[in-house]
Amino acid sequence: MTAEQTSSGLSRDVRADFPILATDLDGKPPVYLDNAATTQMPRQVLDAMYDYYSNDNSNVGRGVHTLGMRATDRFMRSRERVRAFLNAAQASEIVFTKSATESVNLVAQSFGRQVVSDGDEVLISGLEHHSNLLPWRRLCEQTGAALKVAAVDEHGEPSLDSFRAQITERTRLIAVAHVSNVQGTVNPVRDITAAAHDHGIFVVVDGAQAVAHRSVDVRDIGADFYCFSAHKMYGPHGTGVLYGKAEHFERMEPVLLGGGMAPIASYDGPLISMPPLRFEAGSPNIAGMVGTAAAMDYLDGLGRDAVHEHDAALAARAAEGLRALGGVTVYGAQAPRGGILSFNVDGVHPHDVGGHLNTFGIATRTGVHCASPFMDGLGLVGSVRASFGVYNTMDEVELLIESVKTSEKGFWSTNHPNERFLPPGRDSG
Ligand code: ALA
Repeated sequence: MTAEQTSSGLSRDVRADFPILATDLDGKPPVYLDNAATTQMPRQVLDAMYDYYSNDNSNVGRGVHTLGMRATDRFMRSRERVRAFLNAAQASEIVFTKSATESVNLVAQSFGRQVVSDGDEVLISGLEHHSNLLPWRRLCEQTGAALKVAAVDEHGEPSLDSFRAQITERTRLIAVAHVSNVQGTVNPVRDITAAAHDHGIFVVVDGAQAVAHRSVDVRDIGADFYCFSAHKMYGPHGTGVLYGKAEHFERMEPVLLGGGMAPIASYDGPLISMPPLRFEAGSPNIAGMVGTAAAMDYLDGLGRDAVHEHDAALAARAAEGLRALGGVTVYGAQAPRGGILSFNVDGVHPHDVGGHLNTFGIATRTGVHCASPFMDGLGLVGSVRASFGVYNTMDEVELLIESVKTSEKGFWSTNHPNERFLPPGRDSG
């Protein structure tokens, strides 16, 4: 990618940072447009983890030996790095988990069990990922609360008003995605939080699809909890983050118990443990946290506003080009500001479009994107999702548009009721 080809804010060629982009896919370079599922890692992140394992690896918070202290220092600096990335007030408001999913489940099973009771209501939006639906459904089943859903409009987009319309005096908690993983809709989480707090309602934001694409300031948003994972923001798998306000972490019970989360344990005395370690029982994923911090350095080095502009420009051009083809439906009314868009080719199953794109080396995600109720609401068996990252180029967007143009009809029809569960070559989904 040349400086001209970045054409959207990034000041330098970043492709050389990503070793995987130099691989060969049957004679073609990878055109990786599945960033909402997992982003690739730059050398800077890989090197940070290699350096950690090569020079400092040990366990943390235990040994008084040099490697133990070095590992502990890197572990603590990683937490501070995440705090600064989110503009949280203090490092103890940052808990490391294994995924955004685990972060949501921790809030549901700890905080949720404390504040939600029989007859209460938990409110989510109609476009949530299963990870921000099923933990709340379970909480409601456990407590006798009702799960309410803020409606989406004909474009699949909720609004502040759709949340307001569902708020009652029994609403205890709202859980909402910052950015839709299906179509990139950016939800007004700051306004939703302000409206919720006016009624004494707590807010959990799933930021999994936001942090790689935009600046996130948890104090500006004001939500009580904010969750995401590193592997969607140029960091490693197996590492998630839960931001929570100190006042909430102080009152929450741990879900997992064990080593590292309490300084002293006994057979029958009170359990004394402090956040954030209270929620991090067991040996942590230290290298994952080091990699997460390095990914944050990487994004800040590029400039998060520049990254946002870049990703949004690619998604906007893709949406415009695909719509102009005719016979292609791009979902969502907004410009896909989250760097994500979903579409379908009329009469062609999304898995077939995805397979066709793969013959050009283009990676997209197809299916229901772990958001089945949302897709059901739109009456879709699935969609093709293209999601953009810092290494994608306008040339790749044009290749996507040209390749979709040659998608042929005559694959599976889109009408078979079970087809969403049957991607080609697999017998379950
Ligand atoms: N949550 C990820 C996605 O939407 C896996 O693709």
